[in-house]
Amino acid sequence: MSQQNRRKFLKKASLGGLLLFGASTSKAEEKLLQTPVDEDFNKKYSPNDTVRLGFIGCGIQGFANARSAIKNPGVEVAAACDLYTGRLDRMKEVFGAGIFTTRDFREILNRKDIDAVCISTSDHWHDHQLKAALAAGKPVYCEKPMMHHIDEGLSMVEAERKSGLPVQIGSQRASGLETLKAKELLESGAIGDLILADIRSDRNSSNGAWQYSIPTDAGPETVDWDAFLGDAPKRPFDKTRFFRWRNYDDYGTGVAGDLFVHLFTALHIITSSKGPSKIYGTGGLRFWKDGRDAPDVTLGLLDYEKCAAHPAFNVQMRVNFVDGSGGGSHVNLIGTEGMMTIGYDGITVKSNPVQTQPSFGGWDSYDTFSEKQQAEFKKWFESEYADKNYQMKSPAEIKYTIPQGFDTHKTHWKVFTDAVRGKNKIVEDTAFGLRAAAPSLATNVSMKMGKPILWDGEGMKLV
Ligand SMILES: NC(=O)c1ccc[n+]([C@@H]2O[C@H](COP(=O)([O-])OP(=O)(O)OC[C@H]3O[C@@H](n4cnc5c(N)ncnc54)[C@H](O)[C@@H]3O)[C@@H](O)[C@H]2O)c1
Repeated sequence: MSQQNRRKFLKKASLGGLLLFGASTSKAEEKLLQTPVDEDFNKKYSPNDTVRLGFIGCGIQGFANARSAIKNPGVEVAAACDLYTGRLDRMKEVFGAGIFTTRDFREILNRKDIDAVCISTSDHWHDHQLKAALAAGKPVYCEKPMMHHIDEGLSMVEAERKSGLPVQIGSQRASGLETLKAKELLESGAIGDLILADIRSDRNSSNGAWQYSIPTDAGPETVDWDAFLGDAPKRPFDKTRFFRWRNYDDYGTGVAGDLFVHLFTALHIITSSKGPSKIYGTGGLRFWKDGRDAPDVTLGLLDYEKCAAHPAFNVQMRVNFVDGSGGGSHVNLIGTEGMMTIGYDGITVKSNPVQTQPSFGGWDSYDTFSEKQQAEFKKWFESEYADKNYQMKSPAEIKYTIPQGFDTHKTHWKVFTDAVRGKNKIVEDTAFGLRAAAPSLATNVSMKMGKPILWDGEGMKLV
């Protein structure tokens, strides 16, 4: 497969006027990626054609979702639900005083004038609200990680299947130009066979470590604490837990559920994988000892087995919220013939084939042979490989740049609203969402239990 893919890639690259390998080609080439044409962009939508959205959970991501959704024509923010009064006031300030607001999400589900809902609540509410929305006949855009615990996932997949309605999980990298190009490049053999995915997403700030602002009016009158708790253990009102819920296992999923899940989403789109078979997690709470129980350092090591879609490969993934090196992230896919570095601005492909042709001398056993043996070995080597015509390939580099103005989040919303209009099928559905979230959550489980977790990605169940 590797040889065949490689030939395909070389053929395509040379058709594009690129010389990849040869005596002196180590300089970088640059190509601008093409943004998909948005045929609907100038279309005028009648009120009947407009997708009217209800937003359940209007915190940081709820606002980001609403803003991105309405960048697409024919999409409106019609209703908002949140448990903190200030956020409902803010939704009216930003999206119009006429929108319907409530603290009870069921009131949105009961409204006939809402075509679909977006769930951007804390992780422990996703499964309940997704299932309730589908039962009420509303298509759902649900934030990642799809679920709080692995065992909640299958019932969500079943709810989607039973409803027949479109559901999209909100890890927007699934619609990223860089993700889709990386998939095409991997499939065409640009880096040979994938061997290792080396991924990190590190931070070095208090906001980065989830110490988000708490409003000065936070109190039992402005916050519906009992509704927030839901199926979490009962406890007295605590504004820190409400506004910084990610720091607590009762409501959040740690750095793995918050950040690993985006990386699995991209990886599974690129490789067409259904997921790893074995997951090891480790880490701990090293620095941000502000009362939280979620670790601030998490490392995952994962085994992906060979299957029809891909060869066997490994993943090393880490998030460090105490990154004295300055924070930063990288996604490197390392193969037998090169490496792809995937960033928000594009992809760099470095061709650097593993040297397989035999050689001798240097750091080798040759020098430990007697002079007589060295002479005999040299003679043998030269006659053995004389007719093989081995050639060293020079390293090369191609940068594929995302055009300025391409908006991944808006595009992810277009995929969803098009599906609500019956125009397309969704890739990042509940089965996909479960397969991306489960390895993330299993990293936390492995860390707690001190042993690897075995996972059946095809059957979507723990082994
Ligand atoms: N796709 C992305 O890039 C991305 C980025 C950030 C967050 N997220 C996800 O979005 C979700 C929300 O994160 P956030 O950063 O916006 O958190 P946040 O704390 O800023 O907002 C969450 C909001 O949900 C509300 N809420 C909680 N339970 C509710 C309920 N039962 N009914 C109505 N409202 C309820 C809270 O009042 C709060 O305002 C999380 O699942 C997170 O993982 C995704």
